[in-house]
Amino acid sequence: MNGGNGVYSYSKSSQLQKEGSDVMMGMIKDAITEKMDIKSLLSNNSNIASFHIVDFGCSIGPNTFLAMQHIIETITHKHQTQHKNNQISPEFQVFFNDHVTNDFNTLFKALPLERRYFTSGVPGSFYGHLFPSNSIHFAYSSYSLQWLSKTPKELMDEKSRSWNTGKIHYIGASEDVTSVYIAQFEKDMEMFLNARGQELKRLWKME
Ligand SMILES: C[S@@+](CC[C@H](N)C(=O)[O-])C[C@H]1O[C@@H](n2cnc3c(N)ncnc32)[C@H](O)[C@@H]1O
Repeated sequence: MNGGNGVYSYSKSSQLQKEGSDVMMGMIKDAITEKMDIKSLLSNNSNIASFHIVDFGCSIGPNTFLAMQHIIETITHKHQTQHKNNQISPEFQVFFNDHVTNDFNTLFKALPLERRYFTSGVPGSFYGHLFPSNSIHFAYSSYSLQWLSKTPKELMDEKSRSWNTGKIHYIGASEDVTSVYIAQFEKDMEMFLNARGQELKRLWKME
């Protein structure tokens, strides 16, 4: 993504991604309201419940800030309605993750002044482990998991049946090409889910 605030920066050209995220946010809010088990977060012995949220592939804003705000508002609302007599109100820590090459300086400069959360930047690929086991309460990712971890080498090998003739997309490509993209996506998703499976706490009611 282009960094900075210029005309061609991601911060000035991410309206499409915002619209997608707005649609998903309704579903995310429903899931938090219906299925998140806030009680288990608050039932430990500590006086303060701290809630850790990660945006995997956050880029430089502004969409990530809106998404984090909506998630935190929904969790806070659920906590207030479920625990009216409870003195403990959760504190939130948001981890902004992206590749090491992401323009984190622009992201940090654009952080909303009125935010109700602590922040950290976490550089590195989300296809690997980024957090200690059992330490994250909520993982969010939008418009980022379509990025593969690498270009499969067969696509660039002129001698391979899956050579993609120099293109960087699969629109109109043969089945040999698309199957290579699919296989890479499956491997990547497995790595992503395995890493999150270790890092996430169990806070959800399973059906
Ligand atoms: C299209 S932007 C989406 C940004 C933001 N989530 C939004 O909705 O506006 C995709 C982001 O994912 C990041 N990304 C792609 N692959 C990644 C990886 N393996 N690990 C961490 N970030 C990654 C890119 O660097 C880029 O900033």
